[in-house]
Amino acid sequence: MNNENLKNKYSGKFIVLDGPDGCGKTTQVKLLAQWLNEQGVSTECFRDPGDTAIGEKIRQILLNPEHIAMSTAAEVLLYMAARAQLWEEKIAPALTQKKCAILDRWLSSTCAYQGYAGGFGINQVIQLATDSLKMPWPDLTIILDVDLETSANRLQDKPDRMEAKSREYHQKVREGFLKLARRQKNFLVVDATGDIETVQKKILQLISEVGFT
Ligand code: TMP
Repeated sequence: MNNENLKNKYSGKFIVLDGPDGCGKTTQVKLLAQWLNEQGVSTECFRDPGDTAIGEKIRQILLNPEHIAMSTAAEVLLYMAARAQLWEEKIAPALTQKKCAILDRWLSSTCAYQGYAGGFGINQVIQLATDSLKMPWPDLTIILDVDLETSANRLQDKPDRMEAKSREYHQKVREGFLKLARRQKNFLVVDATGDIETVQKKILQLISEVGFT
């Protein structure tokens, strides 16, 4: 695909990279944005939760290891609140300017963590998102799939409140992502167990080949 086609294809598109903790999505978001910029596609990257003053405060509440009492329902509502703010303040304006918005996590995370692993229910999370977000589903979601051993080796020694949850919880998070990818449109799964360059190549191949429905 030449640069002009790629530019047309990705301008004003909403792309999400998501997956279990330690899947490498933050690195891959940066590399993808860099590559798209080199192809002439104007991009903006955001992390969810975060990247707004309100969202960063909500993120601190969510990830503070002292907040062990937080219920799954409270998690769902706080993640969704940060996301609604991020859409309004940052993503919608970027898309209006025909930029390609690349997100580090999105609704798929709430489905996998709180909906599936936390037991809130994937359908219940989606219902809430449909009622509270203007664009619950991105144009494309790429799930970076890793096993627990690989992700544990990639994580830092001081886990945040979500990373500190049990092995069983994180196993279910992975299953939740794969389950969601099977049932949702515009979801692709990449094996992210390889090194950074190998995973990047796989992502770029999908980005070049995928068609939007
Ligand atoms: P991050 O460090 O990858 O930015 O994500 C912060 C943590 O929050 C990570 O452990 C995953 C978790 N999380 C959820 O549990 N639900 C969500 O909806 C999102 C976006 C993240």
